[in-house]
Amino acid sequence: MKILVVGGGGREHAIAWKISRSNKVSKIYCAPGNAGIEECAECIDIPVTDHEKLSDFALSMNIDLTIVGPDDPLAAGIVDVFEQKGLRIFGPRMNAAIIESSKVFSKNLMKKYNIPTAAYEAFNEPDKAIEYLETSKYPLVIKADGLALGKGVLICMDYKEAVEAVKAIMIDKQFGLAGNRLIVEEFISGPEVSVLAFCDGSHILPMTSAQDHKRALDNDQGLNTGGMGTFSPSPFYTEEVDEYCRRFIYQPTMDAMKAEGRDFVGILFVGLMLTKDGPKVLEYNARFGDPEAQVVLPRLKNDLIDVFEACIDGRLNEVELSFEQKAAVCVVLASDGYPEKYDKGFEIQGLDAWANKDDYHIFHAATRKEAGHILTNGGRVLGVTALGKDLKEARAKAYKATETIHFKNKYMRTDIGKAIE
Ligand code: AMP
Ligand code: GLY
Repeated sequence: MKILVVGGGGREHAIAWKISRSNKVSKIYCAPGNAGIEECAECIDIPVTDHEKLSDFALSMNIDLTIVGPDDPLAAGIVDVFEQKGLRIFGPRMNAAIIESSKVFSKNLMKKYNIPTAAYEAFNEPDKAIEYLETSKYPLVIKADGLALGKGVLICMDYKEAVEAVKAIMIDKQFGLAGNRLIVEEFISGPEVSVLAFCDGSHILPMTSAQDHKRALDNDQGLNTGGMGTFSPSPFYTEEVDEYCRRFIYQPTMDAMKAEGRDFVGILFVGLMLTKDGPKVLEYNARFGDPEAQVVLPRLKNDLIDVFEACIDGRLNEVELSFEQKAAVCVVLASDGYPEKYDKGFEIQGLDAWANKDDYHIFHAATRKEAGHILTNGGRVLGVTALGKDLKEARAKAYKATETIHFKNKYMRTDIGKAIE
């Protein structure tokens, strides 16, 4: 089979690496890819949002299956465009990807179908939202409705902060059109767990759990980022929690989307908070997490292509997933200054020692090649993943590997997975 992977980050490197191990796959293309992805795929210089060019490429190269990594093209309907041209593609259509691209949609869905989530109100106008804030309990959480690179969620300690948040989102339009509507949500607390699940429109098959570290600095301080590191599995996600979530969250979400005429085919990423009143949904994403994919996919034993095909063909009920008993930890090496201002274009050294080494994967998130050298090319640069017999060993191995990889302005958190040791 010839495969096209859409995207160019660490998640797409993990996907491309995993499918390169399938004996069904003869050739992988990746658009736009990066310097690491080049090792297992041919990179094609087409932006992820140019659906016409991507689908024309897939037609002309006789691509058998396209896999979409990021949220933006899914929200903008890449799957619909490919399907209209008779191409096979893995991911939700636009009418189902809305589960991630509109928080008002996903919160209303959860309310209508009794799926456990934090209490909330949705607003279209700043005045109404501000009036509501006068009688609210604090802290509370304000969320822009649309996609905002993981930055559209503001935790407000008091009325003053909350009013500022509403103004920033709705009047100053800090997140653009994503701020046309917003959610005011009850503040809840507990360990956070990410569960990614394969979906075929009717059936849902959750993978092993993972835990992200969203803040930029150690001890969960600093700004929210796309994710500074992950580990898998999460010790908080017990069998009992899994059973509860399958019964009251995962399958009801599948059924709710079907009942709304929005059959969800693809990866549903459920962001959970394990509160003292039970697991609640913080958010849904319509794709693999980044860097969750970098710890979950190295542990997956199945041929990923088989599972993707079962999703598209509506026979996920025939699939059983199995995962390595080993734990995995991914430490993100970023450019100092991320998620704000940072410099790029610095040479990366020390990568060769880790090529094809058992238990280690250096996934490239933002790199490019120039005259034979690999250079930094963005905020999150590399994801250093290691597997070990338990989280402690995986964590020690991942951090050992980070010491041997060098580039100017290298920054990482030093406490990925530390809290659960
Ligand atoms: P989200 O993008 O919705 O996952 O939110 C980003 C982060 O904000 C989450 O990972 C949580 O740490 C935090 N958060 C979101 N919603 C709430 C909530 N209702 N209560 C407390 N923290 C929240
Ligand atoms: N790591 C969080 C996300 O992919 O949204």
